[in-house]
Amino acid sequence: MQLRHYAYDLNSGIGIYSARILSMVISVASYKGGVGKTTTSIHLAAYFQTLAPTLLLDGDLNRSSLRWAEPGKLPFQVVDHRQAAMHIHRYQHVIVDTQARPDEQDMKVLAGSCDLLVLPCTPDAISLQVLGDTAAALRKIGASNYRILLTVVPPRPNRDGEEARQYLTSSGMPVFRTGIRRLVAFQRAALEGVTVAEIDRKNLGWADYLQAGEEILSASRSVAA
Ligand SMILES: Nc1ncnc2c1ncn2[C@@H]1O[C@H](COP(=O)(O)OP(=O)(O)OP(=O)(O)O)[C@@H](O)[C@H]1O
Ligand SMILES: [Mg+2]
Repeated sequence: MQLRHYAYDLNSGIGIYSARILSMVISVASYKGGVGKTTTSIHLAAYFQTLAPTLLLDGDLNRSSLRWAEPGKLPFQVVDHRQAAMHIHRYQHVIVDTQARPDEQDMKVLAGSCDLLVLPCTPDAISLQVLGDTAAALRKIGASNYRILLTVVPPRPNRDGEEARQYLTSSGMPVFRTGIRRLVAFQRAALEGVTVAEIDRKNLGWADYLQAGEEILSASRSVAA
């Protein structure tokens, strides 16, 4: 059995959801822009769609997820988050792409209205610094349902990804074991309105998001057990 409750906060424009066991609501957020929120939302939605009907809510004013979906080639539905109430009952999993620079109140609503807050972060000094502020804000509101996903990780011998991971884990922050590698295929996928699996013959980018999705699933299973 799955239960889902939905409410919409007219003031903040943020949907408030709660879901029971294996019906996941995942919000993708960050204080910093351009760190891969939309790319992550699209590919997590594609992963969860392989398991059960999944809806991607575009909560960003720039409508990047909706634009990605415009050619009609994605394997899941994307709607404006303000239309959520009309659609949500038909889906088991919901991914929310949010806009950058949420204020503290937004963050509180976001963290309180999802099962998991995924925080994409690129492995560079500025992003890590901003992420530190995000984690501090989350700690202040007592939220612990978040996990950091390193994105746009440059290939070896560059060690930025490993160093960022070490820094985050030594600071006690929850980090996905998987990082998402830097691939031009992600940019082409956005332009063509498809997932990276359709572009990258070696399937490396998709494999990264597949692993991230599986990490989410196994963590949620162990919570549910
Ligand atoms: N793994 C990756 N490898 C290479 N490029 C990437 C990767 N992930 C994202 N990008 C590119 O980085 C840019 C920013 O990504 P994206 O739009 O997903 O970030 P965002 O956090 O949603 O940005 P915004 O704050 O503007 O909403 C885009 O050009 C995207 O194609
Ligand atoms: Mg975006």
